[in-house]
Amino acid sequence: MPKRIFSGAQPTGNVHLGNYLGALRNWVALQHEYESFFCIVNLHAVTIPQDPKLLAEKTRELTRIYLAVGIDPDVSTIFVQSDVHQHAELTWILNCVARMSELERMTQFKDKSRKSENVSAGLFDYPVLMASDILLYQTDLVPVGEDQRQHLELTRDLAIRFNRDYGDTFRVPEAYIPKVGARIMSLSDPTKKMSKSDDDPNGCVMMLDDADAVSRKFKRDVTDSGTEIRFDDSRPAISNLLTIYQLLTGKTSDEIESHFAGKGYAQLKQDLADVTVEFLRPFQERVNGIGTEQLNRLLGQGREKASKIASTTLSNVYAAMGVVGAGTSE
Ligand code: AMP
Ligand code: TRP
Repeated sequence: MPKRIFSGAQPTGNVHLGNYLGALRNWVALQHEYESFFCIVNLHAVTIPQDPKLLAEKTRELTRIYLAVGIDPDVSTIFVQSDVHQHAELTWILNCVARMSELERMTQFKDKSRKSENVSAGLFDYPVLMASDILLYQTDLVPVGEDQRQHLELTRDLAIRFNRDYGDTFRVPEAYIPKVGARIMSLSDPTKKMSKSDDDPNGCVMMLDDADAVSRKFKRDVTDSGTEIRFDDSRPAISNLLTIYQLLTGKTSDEIESHFAGKGYAQLKQDLADVTVEFLRPFQERVNGIGTEQLNRLLGQGREKASKIASTTLSNVYAAMGVVGAGTSE
């Protein structure tokens, strides 16, 4: 069987440069080597309250973004999580395998629940739904940003425990976390990751931002002390900008450091804004060029393809556990 990758993003807020550089970009690069499944995880989105109309719009927008960054629907399967009911069903089963104590340790839950007064049981259960996404497809590799590492560990633990208790049923997946770009930082606070839920909108360059917004955000970017433009772990702001520059231009760190030798922060910010705008322009044109009919057709095909695999895995899971009902012979 060809090796498989699975990944997904939530159709909430706007997709930002961190999502692209940490995750989507690698999906595009890996899709020709692996059999690939890319999901729009709308059931994860509802773990915190969403405006129904906006959620529906963002689900379609994210599909367009997947296509416009370069995911090729002829080789990869793109689908919406709620279209394949096995995701929710397997979550129930894995809820009975996961332990409260391991979910209580999840740092993303701790961070998110600190910010909200009414924390849903779904938010607590979020990593189990994610494990179901991955395990349903007998996934080998999961390309994600650094913030998902702990969820991947949990996924592996659940697969190993299930296999031990009920027989070999799930492939145990590996995380694919890039060496460069796995944690793009906020432009307004380089000690925090770039995030949709950043309180300061200037910290985050959105994939659908226009040229003015991009330039403004880079210009306002906080800087650290020192004037030299070079990669330096002790200077997180400059290192973050250089990482973004490196990933968007494909240049090596030596090339970049010599390009900026003797130049100041202002020049770096200007160049970075130019490079980003050049990258975003054709991307945004592609987003706008994808019609509704094409979108519906692709998502319909994705649902068919994903459902076949998901239903086989879920049947195996039920059989392994003795979860049987009407019409099953003794
Ligand atoms: P989300 O939009 O939260 O569903 O995230 C989609 C993907 O983007 C996941 O693989 C995340 O790990 C990745 N991601 C989110 N924020 C960042 C960031 N600041 N830097 C790198 N990757 C990120
Ligand atoms: N939890 C991931 C995030 O917030 C999104 C996600 C859901 C995911 N299911 C997944 C990523 C399965 C990889 C594989 O970024």
